[in-house]
Amino acid sequence: MKKELAFSIVKLNPICISKYPIIFQPDLYLEEGMRLKMKAIEIRNKYLNFFKKNGHAIIPSAPLIPENDPSVLFNTAGMQPLVPYLLGEKHPSGTRLTDYQKCVRTNDIDEVGDNRHLTYFEMLGNWSLGDYFKEESIQMSYNFLTKELGIPAEKLSVTCFAGDEDCPKDEVSAECWKKAGIPEERIYFYGKGDNWWIAGEEGPCGPDTEMFYDTGKPACSNDCQPSCDCGKYVEIWNNVFMEYFKDKNGYTKLEQKNVDTGLGLERMTMLLQGKETPFDTELFQPIMKKLEESQKVDNIESRRIVAEHLRSSMMIISDGGKPSNIDRGYVLRRLIRRMIRHLNKLQINLDELSTLIEINVENLKEMYPELEKNKNLIKTVIIEEKDKFVKTLEHGEKEFSKAMNKAKTEGKTKISGEVVFKLYDTYGFPPEVTSELARENGFEVNIKEYEELFKKHQEKSRQGSEAKFKGGLAEQNEQTISYHTATHLLNAALKQILGPDTHQKGSNITTERMRFDFNCDHKLTEEEKQKIEEIVNKWIEEGLEVTVETMKKEEAIKSGAECMFIEKYPDEVTVYSIGKISKELCGGPHVKNTSELGKFKIKKEEASSSGVRRIKAVLVKG
Ligand code: ALA
Repeated sequence: MKKELAFSIVKLNPICISKYPIIFQPDLYLEEGMRLKMKAIEIRNKYLNFFKKNGHAIIPSAPLIPENDPSVLFNTAGMQPLVPYLLGEKHPSGTRLTDYQKCVRTNDIDEVGDNRHLTYFEMLGNWSLGDYFKEESIQMSYNFLTKELGIPAEKLSVTCFAGDEDCPKDEVSAECWKKAGIPEERIYFYGKGDNWWIAGEEGPCGPDTEMFYDTGKPACSNDCQPSCDCGKYVEIWNNVFMEYFKDKNGYTKLEQKNVDTGLGLERMTMLLQGKETPFDTELFQPIMKKLEESQKVDNIESRRIVAEHLRSSMMIISDGGKPSNIDRGYVLRRLIRRMIRHLNKLQINLDELSTLIEINVENLKEMYPELEKNKNLIKTVIIEEKDKFVKTLEHGEKEFSKAMNKAKTEGKTKISGEVVFKLYDTYGFPPEVTSELARENGFEVNIKEYEELFKKHQEKSRQGSEAKFKGGLAEQNEQTISYHTATHLLNAALKQILGPDTHQKGSNITTERMRFDFNCDHKLTEEEKQKIEEIVNKWIEEGLEVTVETMKKEEAIKSGAECMFIEKYPDEVTVYSIGKISKELCGGPHVKNTSELGKFKIKKEEASSSGVRRIKAVLVKG
């Protein structure tokens, strides 16, 4: 699967609407009774039960917001919460797992509104952690599709990896497909661009085999095949044979051979119901109908955007997301704000938001009981964000009109990056909204210029937020400050026990605990953990003084000060020292003396990602 496609499990292949006005011809392929019966929740249940029958433990969906992975904003695939187990850690539920995973992929956010893109979707998956491999995996997929879902075998085509210098041609999968019942002429071989899967740049990966559904549309050419974009073939399931680990040095073989699969529920529901878009299924119909009733201006694209972004926002808030100006919070803010802009376009009164949320909760609560539990929270967050945005919009739209009129009188067709930045900086007017408004009015925006200005602005604010960055300190109080100092002690202790090449890879602090990631190639032994605790506690008892000095970045590095991300620091830095045992570039703040810390205790030691371990620890005061 191409990298770009790896993030498109819920999109249909681009469809040549002009050539083929009928996108799917449902009557061509499924019996009436079957089509009407299969709701998304039934497909989900069938899937989980099928894999349970085949020896898999059903595990719960992880929250959308990854617990232990600061490298991604949201879970984007079922395998993400399972990375430590794919790398060899034992899973408490065994070696065969299945689940439905809530996923958010936002790289195509601007495309939502067409007939195929979604930001939130559900991925059904099954895993073998060093258990079965290609043959059993392929046989189970074939049986599920043809026997459980009743898809006629002649509707299925499959693709396998063609082979290259990193990994041989996947003849084994092709043989397995033949044995299962797919004839040779419907087995295709493609290279890494199509039949190789990895989440991002580094991590567990391998060749995959993908299953395609033939919609029955005429072939667009003599060479029409599953990789073709015309819409005849729709990808429905991806089985990844995870045998490799990729890092910047290349590929190495994993200790265990895993299977990781992903089936996009919304897409499968749409196909089985013979619908043209996910918005035509029961997942979206109640909200789509309500929007149609309430709108004063008809716009299908806006209705889809509202329906999609509302569901996505509700799922994110229900899993703990809050709107803000950075990272996950910004994604959520963008989703809510874009939804509100489109409610305005439909001329739907924003007071109806509460009813729209109710409709979605009612419709989706059977699939996601958490939505009902968190209904009040969801309403509060969305309505508060709406109120903020309404104010922003009033100011921003006025300013935008002025800028547009000025550009018009000057005979320009482009809005400058400076205007976009001013709207963002002064009125909190999101750049994507400016771009959208500009587009609607026949203007372009100079996004490159905006991005340059934004970078400069970030550089400035980075210097100010340096203190926050280091320990992930969202709020600073006595407890978080103590934990922050303790991370420096732990960092130093790890170097003493595991060697001087041990470095911090990440850290996160709450009032309840500290979390610390570091490079290490093995699970810590009981003895190592004990020694680490002893050293940290010895330094605490010794009452070491914590001192701070300001110096040039190069000077600090020369003096041997430890630093996690050198490029994140300005030229002038602060360096914190603890007695003679620790020296780190850091924004602080810290306690004045280690005697203030209390007793240090390791609560948990676990894998974080390949070659990175994680310690969770507490300070017990008293
Ligand atoms: N992890 C694979 C995917 O997302 C199954 O397609």
